[in-house]
Amino acid sequence: MLNRIKLWKNQNTTSSTLRERIEEIKKLRVPEHVAIIMDGNGRWAKKRALPRIAGHHEGMKVVRKTTKLANELGIKTLTLYAFSTENWKRPKNEVDYLMKLPEEFLGSFLPELIEENVQVKMIGYKEQLPLHTMNAIGRAMEDTKNNDGLVLNFALNYGSRAEILDAVKKVIKDCNSGIMEEEHLNEETFASYLMTSDFKDPDLLIRTSGEIRLSNFMLWQMAYTEFWFTDVLWPDFNDGHLLEAIEAFQGRQRRFGGV
Ligand code: IPE
Ligand code: IPE
Ligand code: MG
Repeated sequence: MLNRIKLWKNQNTTSSTLRERIEEIKKLRVPEHVAIIMDGNGRWAKKRALPRIAGHHEGMKVVRKTTKLANELGIKTLTLYAFSTENWKRPKNEVDYLMKLPEEFLGSFLPELIEENVQVKMIGYKEQLPLHTMNAIGRAMEDTKNNDGLVLNFALNYGSRAEILDAVKKVIKDCNSGIMEEEHLNEETFASYLMTSDFKDPDLLIRTSGEIRLSNFMLWQMAYTEFWFTDVLWPDFNDGHLLEAIEAFQGRQRRFGGV
């Protein structure tokens, strides 16, 4: 009983400080589009002598918590890099598990997401995804399409170089068929050929696990994104870390080439 009271007290103090930070953050400019490279699941598992997929499973819970807080903060879009076009190189059992994660995640949390007015979207190459994966995501997109809260955008089988190259090919095709005229091709019209045509460019990129690279994530879109890196492994990422990233963002001066 005493332990339970202690636990309750601890939770209460932690959550009240988090609460204060949330309120402070909301007074300032909150990034509209936050993108996260959720990295370090494998290392998290390895440290515990667990199979890599245990890290992915744990990481899924963090996705849920992060979504909730992002929504509460008034972030409009949260794009999560869940599987890259290069991740097919991994062992089959790991890839198979990663392809089951969307079903597992949405199976557990879709009702809550609907309740919280979250809209589920995805970017990436759908064609190569197993049917069961695509069905789960397709259903979630359908069931949440009229929601107008946070857009939870999964980058699944996403690769930015392929995306840019495909956009170039479509532009050439449209120019040849007269749908597009070369004079009308500019940064804005070109961006409309990318998978992210529905979204504004990310304001903030977070990458966990200590890797300081983009790993083929939104190369075009992140020309002026603010970057925030942490050594924390994705399964250990918590609300405090997300607030820390946003607080750092709020302290940045974005100049976009101006003065
Ligand atoms: C990120 O964690 C999840 C995916 C890439 C799908 P990793 O699986 O890359 O974890 P590490 O980098 O090996 O620790
Ligand atoms: C990037 O992480 C992709 C995702 C988080 C989905 P990786 O673990 O695949 O990236 P690298 O191989 O370390 O660059
Ligand atoms: Mg990794």
